[in-house]
Amino acid sequence: KSYRVAILGATGAVGTELLELLLSRDFPLSELKLLASPRSAGNSLRFGGEQLTVEAVGDRSFDGVDLVLASAGGSTSKQWAHKAVAAGAVVVDNSSAFRMDPQVPLVVPEVNPEAVVNHQGIIANPNCTTILMNVAVWPLYQVQPLRRIVVSTYQSASGAGARAMEEVKTQARAILQGETPQAEIFPYPLAFNLFPHNSPINDLGYCEEEMKMINETRKIFGDDKLRVSATCVRVPVLRAHSEAINLEFEQPFDVAKARDVLSQAPGVKLVEDWQANYFPMPIDATGCDPVLVGRIRQDLSHPCGLELWLCGDQVRKGAALNAVQIAELLVSKDLL
Ligand code: A2P
Repeated sequence: KSYRVAILGATGAVGTELLELLLSRDFPLSELKLLASPRSAGNSLRFGGEQLTVEAVGDRSFDGVDLVLASAGGSTSKQWAHKAVAAGAVVVDNSSAFRMDPQVPLVVPEVNPEAVVNHQGIIANPNCTTILMNVAVWPLYQVQPLRRIVVSTYQSASGAGARAMEEVKTQARAILQGETPQAEIFPYPLAFNLFPHNSPINDLGYCEEEMKMINETRKIFGDDKLRVSATCVRVPVLRAHSEAINLEFEQPFDVAKARDVLSQAPGVKLVEDWQANYFPMPIDATGCDPVLVGRIRQDLSHPCGLELWLCGDQVRKGAALNAVQIAELLVSKDLL
C-alpha cells in the first residue's frame, strides 16, 4: 500500500527536512505534493532524482491526498488543516495551533504512540524542546514517579525557521566586519548574544515557549499534576537545541541505574566521556536522529534529584523526524 502525501510548508527549514526523511526512510509514497505560499509557487525542489514543482496552497490542494505533513506556522495550519481533513486527508501538524485541543492527540512516538489511535483527522507534533525533553525523561519516569522537572533551554536559531538561521549568519558577518548587526526576524541580534525566548509573555511572567514545555509535557505523559518549570533562552547556535534538566523523583534515583535506563531508551544516545569532559554538543547533534544525553549526575542539593544535559536536532527529532515517525505509526496501524 502506498500513500499520496502533501507537505505544507515544503520550502521551509522543517519542510526540506521532511522531504529528505520521506526519501531516506523509504516512506511508502505514491505521490508527493509540495505546497507553500504563493511566494514560492513555481520553484522546484529536488526529491531523489526528481525535480518537484512547488504549488501555492489553495482550495483544491488536498483533493485525493491521504496525508498532509504541515509545517507552515500556526495561522496557515488553522486556515488549511480542517479543509484538508474535510477533503479526506489525515494531517500531522507541526504548529502549535491544535496541540492543546482535547480532540487532537499530541504524540511523541517513543512516549505515547497509542494516542494516535483516537485521532479525528489531526495529530499534533509537539513543540521541539518538549519533544527532546520528553524522549529523555520518559524512560526515567517509567522507572520512578517524578515530582518535578526544572529545565533551562539553549535554543538554536533553527526553531525560528530558515530565514532566522540566515539572519544569524548575516549578523555574525556584520559584527566581524565591525558593522552594527541588524535584526528583522528576531527582536534583537542573536549573533554573539543570547536572549530569553522571544515568544509572548503571560501574566505570570512565563513566555509561550515555556508554557508549551509545561502543558504539552503533561498532556503527552498523561499526568496533569506533573510539576514543570522552564526557562527558555535563544542562543547563537544555528541548529540543535540544548537543555539542562533537573529531575526530582519521589525516591532517590541511582545514577548508574539512570545511565543504564537511558543507554537502552529508544531515541536516546548516551554521550558521556567524563575523562575527556566530552558531552552532547549542538554540532554533534546536528543532522542526528537520537537525542544526545549526558552529564547524568546526582543533584547535590537534593537526595531525590538527578541532573542531566541533552542536545537534539530541533529540525529533525524536534520537528520533521517526529512528524514522519507519527506518519509511520499511522501506516503501521493502518490509520491513514
Ligand atoms: P514560503 O517559502 O513560500 O514562504 P520556515 O519555518 O523555515 O520559516 O518555513 C515556513 C514554511 O511555511 C515555508 O515553506 C513557507 O513558504 C510556508 N508558509 C508560510 N506562510 C505560508 C502561507 N500563508 N501559506 C502557505 N505556506 C506558507
